[in-house]
Order: sequence, then structure tokens, then C-alpha cells
Amino acid sequence: MQNNVVCSIENLKVYFPIKAGLAQRTVGHIKAVDDVSLAIHGGETLGLVGESGCGKTTIGRALVRLNEPTAGKIIYNGQNILELKGDELRDLRRKLQIVFQDPYSSLNPRQTVRRMLSEVLTVQMGMDQKQALERTGELLAQVGLSPAYAPRYPHEFSGGQRQRVAIARAIALQPEFLVCDEAVSALDVSIQSQIINLLMDLKEHYTDMTYLFISHALNVVEHISDRVAVMYLGRVVELSETEELFGHPAHPYTQALLSAIPMLAGREEREPIVLKGEVPSAGNVPPGCRFHTRCPYATERCRTEEPQMRECAPGHFAACHLLK
Ligand SMILES: Nc1ncnc2c1ncn2[C@@H]1O[C@H](COP(=O)(O)OP(=O)(O)OP(=O)(O)O)[C@@H](O)[C@H]1O
Ligand SMILES: [Mg+2]
Repeated sequence: MQNNVVCSIENLKVYFPIKAGLAQRTVGHIKAVDDVSLAIHGGETLGLVGESGCGKTTIGRALVRLNEPTAGKIIYNGQNILELKGDELRDLRRKLQIVFQDPYSSLNPRQTVRRMLSEVLTVQMGMDQKQALERTGELLAQVGLSPAYAPRYPHEFSGGQRQRVAIARAIALQPEFLVCDEAVSALDVSIQSQIINLLMDLKEHYTDMTYLFISHALNVVEHISDRVAVMYLGRVVELSETEELFGHPAHPYTQALLSAIPMLAGREEREPIVLKGEVPSAGNVPPGCRFHTRCPYATERCRTEEPQMRECAPGHFAACHLLK
């Protein structure tokens, strides 16, 4: 794995206002992403995991400028992408693509696949009509769909096929960076593995492509990622190479998450750790360590002082006061 940082997220905060009353005054904020710093290496697959609502999608959307951060920077190839406008922003939008959980919402229902792909290729990639049609066939073949499907509309595909169409559209632009947000979660298990294999094949084909793979399916993330970041309530609480993270989780939250996945062959048996209570609301983040209300090991210090990320083994970072 190369260690060149292609994208550096620095102290990113994305807050959404909570409005109340007739005047719709802002009475607080949902801290969807609350001071996240993360360096993504060129060519790697970084898995991003954590329970529902912890801020994974919000980070993915901020990366492709679909939502405006409250504070912080996202440096992509030396440029702060949050400051880009006009042509530079358009250029960035081509390089950074996102595949959503629900491909229905991202595909135009009134456009055939041929029209959609060839439009992308002519308008954004500057191809002529003939080249674009040829490339459309190639792209469909590349994602495992028959080029004969080109005249179909999105509703004429199954869920798995539609996800392939969404991936074909994303790779039509030859992105450098692909965010896959729960790209396989809605599909049944056999189709899931086909799409994962497709994503891994694409990775072999486009070796420089960097993936941010967002998912709450830990077994999928383990399979596909070089490194994994674990989020809890708007923060990254642990980051490490995949094998190290799954073998030696350092943060009590990661330990609990991993203890919930069914045993995989060759892994030592773990006692399931049941976390007490509910995930607190992102509109009311606990003081100190935000995990302390559910942590079985919380001490007085955890209730008052927020732990920072520390390197607990080479390349393995976690934010917990209990780490030596
Ligand atoms: N546009 C928005 N307006 C207000 N709150 C939002 C908005 N988008 C997200 N949130 C809130 O921000 C928090 C993080 O949401 P996000 O979608 O990033 O979570 P997630 O980790 O992707 O969850 P899931 O696994 O369910 O997809 C949640 O509390 C959510 O309700
Ligand atoms: Mg999400």
C-alpha cells in the first residue's frame, strides 16, 4: 500500500441546526460530524464503519461537496475543496464520485441507461457521439451487464443491476476517488458479494483509484478495506490497518461492535459485549468521552475530559483514556 496522502480531512465539523417554535428559531445543533481528522492514502480502500446516525454519510457527502461543512478543511491533492468554485469545482466533481445506497434516488427515471451514460461521456468527458456509444457498451460489460440492456430505463432493472448501472455511471468519469456509501447494503447476500467482487475488480483495473467504503456491514468492510476508521457519534474513535483492527481492537466501542459479528473461521472466539443504553442523540452529545454513557469501563476522567486520538501501536490510533 502506498502511503501518500491524497485527501486530508482536517477538524471537519458538519452541524445541522435544530429549529423549534413558530418562528423556527435555532435552538441547538445536530453535531453529525464533530471534529474529524482523517488522512486518506492514494490507492487505498478505507472502510468507514459505525452505528446508524454516527455521521458516515455526512462525511461522504462533505467530500463530494453535497453538504457544506460548519468548520474544518478537506485538502484534496493540495487544494482545500471547500473553497473551490466554478471550473475547479466541476473538475473536482468529476474526480470524486459517490455511489449511494439507493441507486433509484441517483438515477434519472426518465433516461435510458444509454442516454444517461452517453450524456456523461459527451458532456463531461468530451467524447463524440460514436465514441460515447462504444464506451457505453464497454462500461456496461465492465460492470457485468449486457450491452443489450442499454435501451432500458432504471425501473427495468433489478436492485443489483441498478447498483451496477450506478457504478458504471460513476466510473464513466474515471474518478480518482470513489465514495461508496452503503453501496451493497440494500441487496441480498449473493448480489452483495457480486457487487463487492465488481468493486474489487475495478480496483485492480484502475489501480490508482482511492475508495472510501462506508458500510455498517463489518464483514464486508473487513474483506474489502486496507484500513478501517470507526466512528461513534460524529467522531472517529479508532483507525488502523484492517487486520490489526479486527485482531486487536483497542477502543471499547470497537470491541463491542466486533463482538457482535458472527464468528469467522480462524478467529478466536469473543464474548459478545452488550452495550448498555441507547446511542445518545447527536443533538445532545455527552460531555467528556462521548462514549462514556455506554462504556463498561468508564471512569470519572471519561465523564469530564474528551480523549484525543493516540497511537497505541504503529499505525493504530484510538481515542480512549484507558489506553496505556
Ligand atoms: N440534512 C440533515 N439535516 C438534519 N440532520 C441531519 C441531516 N443529515 C443527517 N442528519 C443527522 O446527522 C446525523 C448523522 O447522519 P448520517 O446520515 O451521516 O449517519 P450515518 O452514519 O450515515 O447513518 P446510517 O448508517 O443510518 O446511514 C444523524 O443524527 C442524522 O439524523
Ligand atoms: Mg448513511
